[in-house]
This record gives sequence, structure tokens and C-alpha cells, in this order.
Amino acid sequence: MQNPRVFVTRDLPGNALEVLKARTRTEVWPEATPPSPEQLIDRVRECEGLLTLVTDRVDRSVLENAPRLRVVSNMGVGYDNIDVAACTERHIPVGNTPGVLTDATADLAFALLLAAARRLPEARDHVLQGRWKTWHPSLLLGRDVHAATLGIIGMGQIGQAMAARARGFGMKILYSDEQKPDAEARLGAIRVDQSELLREADFVSLHVPLMAQTRHLIGASELALMKPTALLINTSRGGVVDQAALVAALRAGRPGAAALDVTDPEPISPSDPLLKLPNALVLPHIGSASVQARTKMANLSVENLLAGLEGRPLVHCVNPQVFDQRR
Ligand code: DGY
Repeated sequence: MQNPRVFVTRDLPGNALEVLKARTRTEVWPEATPPSPEQLIDRVRECEGLLTLVTDRVDRSVLENAPRLRVVSNMGVGYDNIDVAACTERHIPVGNTPGVLTDATADLAFALLLAAARRLPEARDHVLQGRWKTWHPSLLLGRDVHAATLGIIGMGQIGQAMAARARGFGMKILYSDEQKPDAEARLGAIRVDQSELLREADFVSLHVPLMAQTRHLIGASELALMKPTALLINTSRGGVVDQAALVAALRAGRPGAAALDVTDPEPISPSDPLLKLPNALVLPHIGSASVQARTKMANLSVENLLAGLEGRPLVHCVNPQVFDQRR
């Protein structure tokens, strides 16, 4: 019997592809940018396995054109790019990569917090542009991080890793998460409702997945609750924040600043008004971009893919009920 045919939507770090190629007929998309929807449909038509990134939309039109598909493996913990319900209807398991990027993403969220609080991008520009003339008592004053209040919206694995970092900085930690009603002692954090968190926190960090219920979770009325000195940090998904409302709020100075690793859409246009604001720091979705995390993500997504091709439960599966349906 021939090895199964799989399509991988980008070159992967480490030796994950070698492992995959040894057991499948693997085609890898050769470009640095994603295949278009038409190109994705074309490539996956004859495939039994599909390995995607967060940039690749796997919707009904892809699935309808891939009658042999037996598994979709997403290299990422988030899977809002995949129509999971449509996969489940077709008994196709969907894999993701939680855990292996938790610390890298929390590191980046905390790096954004520190960089924006202490105005590192402006300070760097100050030096590079030859504006550093002397030490001045009121030059580039930022906000204290230690002893400030951090509000974490979404206390999943990455939210908890963010809390661990904040504890090291002696911060007071508030959180809102309906799924974790009684985790205060374990997390060293006080559970409050979202409005109170937005009113009280000096730093608000978002760690919820993007779903219908969390799209524009932070809009004009939520932003208006934040302190004029507060900073909003987003390393989850751009769609969790109403970006037009954020631009208006930052222009009005409430909250005082935003530090974002994710935008809506991605990539953000260089002419987007958000990028013109001096109080917005925007990165190109690099939360999990450490050598170690990305290597583990690639390996795990290949493990998930191979398990699905062999009819075994995936290491991490977002719709495990498909295995019950098969029995
Ligand atoms: C994820 O894993 O969902 C990230 O956004 C990409 O690392």
C-alpha cells in the first residue's frame, strides 16, 4: 500500500518534515506566504492529511474538495482558522499544539508589558535619531510595573503563565474567567468581573481564544472603563478587540497605550491608522516565535498528523468526539 499523501502549508523548523516525509508522500508549500484559498483547495484535493498554520483558512469549501481527508493538524494552539464543526461532521479530527508554546507566549506578553510601560521603542528611537543630548529628570518617564495591578482576561495555560511572571514582579493580580470560578488561591490572583478588572487594572492582558463569544470582547464601552494611564496587551487574537474602537480610544487617551502582538486583519496594512499612533506598539504575531517553542510546535503537529493518518487518537485533538463517532 502506498504511503498517504499530505500537504503542509509551509516549510517547518527543525526536522519535523523529515519525520513526516519518511512515512508519507509529503508536499510542502514552497513560498513564505500562505497558499491562496484556491491554491489550498487545489493542493489538498488528493490528500489524506493536511498540516496548516494559523494563516490558513480550512473551511467547508476546502473540505468539500478533499474527499480523502482524514486529519487536519494545525501548528498552533488557536484554531479559529479551522471550521471545526465542518470537520467533525466529516469525522475528521483536528489537532492543535497547546502547552509547548505557553511559556514563550507569556514571555512575549510580559515583554510587551515591560516595553510599553517603560517606553522602550521610543527610547530606542531617541538614541537612533540622535536626540539623546543629556540625562534629564523628566526624559521618557514610564510607569512602574512592580507593585502595579495586572488584570488577566482568560486564565487558561497562557494566562496562568502570565500570572506567574507577574508574581515575580510583585504585582497584584486580578482575573476574569467564568471557567475558573474558584482558582484564586492556586493562582495567587483575585477573581473579579470583567468590568471591575478593566476599571482597576494598570495593565490588562488578553488570553482568551477567538470564538463567536469573544469576538470584540473588548470594544468601545470596555475600553472606556480603563484608566487613562492603563495599558492593554493582546497576544491572543486581533479579533478579540474591536480595532476601530481601540484606535479611537487610544486617540482619546483612554487607555493610555496598547501593546499588541496580534491585529485584525493580519498582516495589518502599513497605512492602518493604528500604526500612526505613538501610544500603540504593534508586533507581527511572534508570541510563540522562539526556536524551542516553534520546534516543539512543528514536532507536535507532525505527531498529531501521523496519529490521525494511522487512525490513532491525536496527542491533542480539539474534537475528540470524532473518535467516539467512529466506534
Ligand atoms: C497559536 O499558537 O495559536 C499562535 O497564535 C501561533 O503561535
